[in-house]
Amino acid sequence: MSRVGYVNGVYRPHGEAVVHIEDRGFQFADGVYEVWSVMDGRLADFDGHMARLHRCLTELGIEIPMSAAALGVVLKETVRRNRVRDGLVYLQVTRGTASRDHAFPVDVAPTVVVTAKRLDPAKGRRAAGNGVAAITRPDIRWGRCDIKTVGLLPNVLAKQAARESGAYECLLVDELGLITEGSSTNAWIVDEHGKLRTRDTQANILRGVTRAAVLKLIEAEGLELEERAFSVEEAKRARELFVTAASAFVMPLISLDGARIGDGTPGPVATRLREVYLEQARREAI
Ligand code: PDD
Repeated sequence: MSRVGYVNGVYRPHGEAVVHIEDRGFQFADGVYEVWSVMDGRLADFDGHMARLHRCLTELGIEIPMSAAALGVVLKETVRRNRVRDGLVYLQVTRGTASRDHAFPVDVAPTVVVTAKRLDPAKGRRAAGNGVAAITRPDIRWGRCDIKTVGLLPNVLAKQAARESGAYECLLVDELGLITEGSSTNAWIVDEHGKLRTRDTQANILRGVTRAAVLKLIEAEGLELEERAFSVEEAKRARELFVTAASAFVMPLISLDGARIGDGTPGPVATRLREVYLEQARREAI
């Protein structure tokens, strides 16, 4: 079954689903995106991702292209047409197409693109069961990482560095030696005293939707948590290190820059949080 992409109101064969060469997403990375996990053909954390999309579009003064309900219909139809049971659905909204000029164009309709792809859930389960490696690199991104823009070049370079090291993720480190987040994930530790820690959202990080869901589960589980930065050294000394994202759920990291984390296997807290997150996300997916 061939893939289908949605572009501005039309579903097209994947290879023919194209935008204009003067689309501002292409020329200026002037656009935002969201990624939903697809579970049993349904979208996880639907409202959280939609709320962040609206906030990001508003922050950038990009017109809201359609209601959340209408966008939901398009996302689900794209999932259906691509016959995705387990995978990801991707939405990108750019400021639109206009003759190249840095300042915002007037009277331009936003460009809306949706794609969906299948993922093998067994692969994620295997990675989470064994744990995965991570490396670190300096965080060289701009100062508004709370906006989920398609301007991802520093993230791309960081992820590529991870791939070249045989690692799953690259954790980004600020000028104080504190971890901000992963190249496409939020980062967490269970520190040497057994307390969960993740960076606070006053810092220059993305406010992850999975992060927010996991925070609530931590409270429900009665676990101790502090939203406070941790250093690379603290991460290496931690009992557990893990990342969260729509594309990773809760993923245990068992090494950082070659140093073993804990006993070198996925820890009980990350394993439990993954289990309860998946249960809840599957139950609430729409
Ligand atoms: N990335 N931090 C960054 C820099 C991210 O790009 C992402 C998500 C996250 C986690 O956010 P959420 O829990 O809302 O998925 C944190 C997506 C999955 C991506 O770029 O593919």
